[in-house]
Amino acid sequence: MTGIPHGAEWFNPLRDTEDKRLPRIAGPCGMVIFGVTGDLAYKKLLPAIYDLANRGLLPPGFSLIGYGRRDWSKQDFEEYVLGAVKDGARTDFRENVWQRLAEGMFFVKGNFDDDKAFDTLADTLKDLDDQRGTAGNWAFYLSVPPDYFSDVCHQLERSGMAKAQGSSWRRVIIEKPFGHDQESATKLNEIVNSVFPEDSVFRIDHYLGKETVQNIMALRFANQLFDPLWNNHFIDHVQITMAEDIGLGGRAGYYDGIGAARDVIQNHLLQLLALVAMEEPIAFTPQELQSEKIKVLKATSPVYPLAKTTARGQYAAGWQGSEYVVGLREEEGFDPESTTETYAACTLQISNRRWAGVPFYLRTGKRLGRRVTEIALVFKPAHHPPFGNTQAPEELHNAVVIRVQPDEGMLMRFGSKVPGSTMEVRDVNMDFSYSEAFTEESPEAYERLILDALLDESSLFPTNEEVELSWKILDPILEYWGQRGRPEEYPAGSWGPESAERMLARDNRTWRRP
Ligand code: BG6
Repeated sequence: MTGIPHGAEWFNPLRDTEDKRLPRIAGPCGMVIFGVTGDLAYKKLLPAIYDLANRGLLPPGFSLIGYGRRDWSKQDFEEYVLGAVKDGARTDFRENVWQRLAEGMFFVKGNFDDDKAFDTLADTLKDLDDQRGTAGNWAFYLSVPPDYFSDVCHQLERSGMAKAQGSSWRRVIIEKPFGHDQESATKLNEIVNSVFPEDSVFRIDHYLGKETVQNIMALRFANQLFDPLWNNHFIDHVQITMAEDIGLGGRAGYYDGIGAARDVIQNHLLQLLALVAMEEPIAFTPQELQSEKIKVLKATSPVYPLAKTTARGQYAAGWQGSEYVVGLREEEGFDPESTTETYAACTLQISNRRWAGVPFYLRTGKRLGRRVTEIALVFKPAHHPPFGNTQAPEELHNAVVIRVQPDEGMLMRFGSKVPGSTMEVRDVNMDFSYSEAFTEESPEAYERLILDALLDESSLFPTNEEVELSWKILDPILEYWGQRGRPEEYPAGSWGPESAERMLARDNRTWRRP
């Protein structure tokens, strides 16, 4: 004890001059990316690795190995990564950072079932451990479709790469989709877990890497203001929206047959729901956090009848702003008879003391009016406003809106008197915006998540149990839709199919128009 009076550490000048990066610099390690020539690696992973290096968060001998079918030399690979960095990095390009990173880049050519190529990869890891001090610590990033998980995992096991020696570590980072229903997710988890123990598996849900998503926890658990209101006594319902204006041109291979619910609700939106609805973890550790999310997911289920409590749609041609865009069935690569939904909405309930009776409405769609992701907690109207006939157009509903993106921030909506001689009350907004409140720019989600995986910090990664529970919630809805043929069409640039409006109108509610 230093004798500092209670609370004085707030003003400890030494602590405030400490470099906050220090505990966040990864120790000696390297990463192998499978699927390095894919879209995700080019647009997100490689730029994020450069940004981490540029922020001084990677170890000096960090090594990056690309594994793929192309006949590339080390130089070809470097040129490819340089293109990705120049196109996609968030931070400035610095030649010295790039040169240092490029020295540690290598490419190994091979298929996913190629014993010889995996043996070469294993030799490369050993050589790099000796030459660059990676110390046997390797992360394997599977940026490949789940059909290949099994091959890659078994090859890593066969060639001895999956097993760490001594105090070194081996981890695997995997990308969604984690299956297409609960059963396939369980099988996939069994395959991965047969090679890598659960504590070395990092499943990416990039929404959890977003600053605004982590801020849900800060908002709820660092403040006294919201806690008393965060329950069914005050909250009428919750709307979780992830709207996109983009269409699916070029993504048919991945998306056709998957659809909006599997692509987005099963992972991103159910994770948002879990963070908004879970109880406070007793400590901010991965185990405690995951255990609270698991409890709330276990209590979550669809509201029936699904014909009325869900909606789905497929975008048709229309005007998106000033641009005329084609419908899904005209997009290249899509089967004109495709029944894949590009819009999905559902009503969920959480059967516990805090949330019983509060519907959670989730919706997502492509080619909607604008790109916005937000969580709106809409409050019950005041019990008995004493103003008689206010001139408010409709009942006032206070709301707390967490704006995940764009315009990251938070908004509180409440009623206020309109200046004048009558008691007219109207909704006003109080707005917090990240860009105005902070000078620091938010890191990209992938920067945060890749670094966390290298640091063995698993709080922001869903466990196998969370993944399977999320499918369990969604499976009955998908099964119901599966029996119903083509989804209803909605024009591009609109806010989705009419059935989605009816879904809320039935409960005397309306969707927010963000
Ligand atoms: C991905 C989905 O997980 O998230 C895409 O597969 C979607 O369909 C994307 O476009 C959206 O991510 P973000 O970060 O742009 O909201």
